[in-house]
Amino acid sequence: MAADQSNVIETPEELPAEMTAARVHRFGAAPQLDRLPLPEVGEGEVLVKMAASVVSHHDLTVAGGRFAVRPALPYTPGLEGAGTVVRVGAGAGSEVALGSLVRLYGGGLGASRAGTWAEYVVVPERVVLEVPPQLDAEVAAACGSVALTAWVALFEVGSMQRGERVAVAGASGAVGSLVVQLALRHGAERVVALVREKERGGALPSGVEVVVGDDGVEPPVDLLVDTVGGPRLSSRVGMVNPGGRVAYLGYTAGQEACFTLPNLLARDVRLLPVNMMRRRPPRDLESRLIGQFAAGELQVATVGVEARRLATAVAQLDAGRARGRVVARW
Ligand SMILES: NC(=O)c1ccc[n+]([C@@H]2O[C@H](COP(=O)([O-])OP(=O)(O)OC[C@H]3O[C@@H](n4cnc5c(N)ncnc54)[C@H](OP(=O)(O)O)[C@@H]3O)[C@@H](O)[C@H]2O)c1
Repeated sequence: MAADQSNVIETPEELPAEMTAARVHRFGAAPQLDRLPLPEVGEGEVLVKMAASVVSHHDLTVAGGRFAVRPALPYTPGLEGAGTVVRVGAGAGSEVALGSLVRLYGGGLGASRAGTWAEYVVVPERVVLEVPPQLDAEVAAACGSVALTAWVALFEVGSMQRGERVAVAGASGAVGSLVVQLALRHGAERVVALVREKERGGALPSGVEVVVGDDGVEPPVDLLVDTVGGPRLSSRVGMVNPGGRVAYLGYTAGQEACFTLPNLLARDVRLLPVNMMRRRPPRDLESRLIGQFAAGELQVATVGVEARRLATAVAQLDAGRARGRVVARW
């Protein structure tokens, strides 16, 4: 049954009857551009005209059929993005106003409901967050989840304290570079950035010690935030002081890690998972971090692609060739 549109507030600009969405028709296949009717807003929902949609590793996991939730096919991926509110449904409008620039993140986007890889997206108002209007839409789309993930890994899971020594594996990546920036801002005594290639460490802030490879760090650190995982995770644990912590969250270097238990026990290091699917950090933390991007205090590198080339962007990310957070522009 069509939603009652009588209490809907909408932009004076005429909205189209149809839109383009990049949809996955088969798990593991490239997304294809489809024409669909503009979605209707229901109670408590808003319609957002997308400016920028993030293409993330998580989206690839869902699109590959490897996530716990397997959407009914065809479906529209996209966990995160940014755009302008163009319709406000009945009962919505207390958090965001018509015309505001907002971030969309979570709430089942791109898994249990149609995601951000579309020109227009309908979302419950609680899933959007108004962001400073001067923030570049690509940055608005790309900054939130990586900054929240970095924050949770460092402080909530990793319990970083001022004066501690921190190493970051995958420091050239989106999450890793935010871990580096936040650790420096919050008083880490020493921040070691582990990168695969020297030139990938060039974009990191001054004050960070760039180490190519992961053969060893002297003296050992108190906390390792590991965004790459894979078979060498066990040797990176050796960089951590006995009694220290490893917050692990990603597996760009491989999904499997093997530990020799006597060595692991001898290190006496705590291995701590970071699972952002089970957390919804407070909105004021997200707003505070986004404010730091707007003020130029935090940075995230983005790679903008035209939405019609979204399938190519997916392939680049999948092949590990993306040099920044991939964002499709509508
Ligand atoms: N657990 C959670 O809740 C959660 C939340 C957010 C993200 N994640 C995961 O965290 C990981 C990083 O995300 P991101 O957005 O930062 O990704 P990203 O921007 O694509 O960065 C990937 C990083 O991994 C490195 N890398 C890629 N392949 C590698 C390999 N074979 N060996 C060693 N290093 C390799 C890259 O190094 P180069 O720069 O040299 O290519 C880069 O530093 C992903 O697996 C993502 O799914 C998990």
